[in-house]
Amino acid sequence: MNFQIEQLIKDSVAALISQGVETSALEIKLLLSEILGCDVSSVLFYEHLLTPQQQKQFDEFINLRKNYAPVDKIIGHKGFYKYDFCVTADVLSPRPDTEIMVEAAIEGAKRANCSKVLELGVGSGCIILSLLAEDKKIRGVGVDISKKALDVATKNAEQLGVLERIKFVQADWFVSDFISQIGQKFDMIVSNPPYIPSSEIATLDKEVKNYDPHCALDGGPDGMTSYRRIAQIVPDMLFSGGRVYLEVGEGQAEEVALIFKNQGFTLEEIRKDLSGIKRCVILKK
Ligand SMILES: C[S@@+](CC[C@H](N)C(=O)[O-])C[C@H]1O[C@@H](n2cnc3c(N)ncnc32)[C@H](O)[C@@H]1O
Repeated sequence: MNFQIEQLIKDSVAALISQGVETSALEIKLLLSEILGCDVSSVLFYEHLLTPQQQKQFDEFINLRKNYAPVDKIIGHKGFYKYDFCVTADVLSPRPDTEIMVEAAIEGAKRANCSKVLELGVGSGCIILSLLAEDKKIRGVGVDISKKALDVATKNAEQLGVLERIKFVQADWFVSDFISQIGQKFDMIVSNPPYIPSSEIATLDKEVKNYDPHCALDGGPDGMTSYRRIAQIVPDMLFSGGRVYLEVGEGQAEEVALIFKNQGFTLEEIRKDLSGIKRCVILKK
């Protein structure tokens, strides 16, 4: 055990908490593992002292964290599902809650023998790229309004070795010719659209409201604006019998299901996340 590193972790946690930043030893270990170039589980067994340069970088990381930067945005990547994704200021930090939808979509794609999947709002690409990495027969299209997000997703597709099976399209699902811009049909459509009601954005944690892109969060006056639009466009983009997998915010599942039922979809399942919140709505055309 490296007692100096152990003490550094304890001191850093205490310093951050005293400044009102919620943190944990694990977060500090993640920062250190980046600097030391070792596994998180090996940080406490690192055999050397920090060099002055490593200490300087650590201090810079802690200062960023004091300003509420999330750890993944500081180190530039985050583990999600089974893979590691590059993240920048231009993409939503992948959330563990979203892994529920990824698991459901992977199971569903195998069961229904899906070969073409569309993601609306790819961000870092964590959803569709996990799906492609798990199921080699799937080809995908990933859409986002943000060119910078698509650049991050492209880098992640390269890193996962799935770039030749995905096409990225910069497009806005609110424009009237969106369906013709995409120009093809799919077996499955997945989306984690922005779903926070506009008036709640200011009340979010600083880690979220100051570091996730606004266009990834703001779901309009009641949080439902994107779901309503997606429900209008997906019937023409799905093959008959195709499915839509949607992540929803807390308390939104039933209303989202109703919006899609009104467009002719059948509700297949609502999956809860690990906190028991209804998080993923699965609908069949
Ligand atoms: C909640 S984030 C989800 C990102 C990623 N799929 C994930 O789960 O981590 C929503 C994404 O939708 C994109 N987006 C928002 N409005 C859009 C629109 N009108 N057309 C296309 N993409 C949009 C945002 O840029 C953002 O990347």
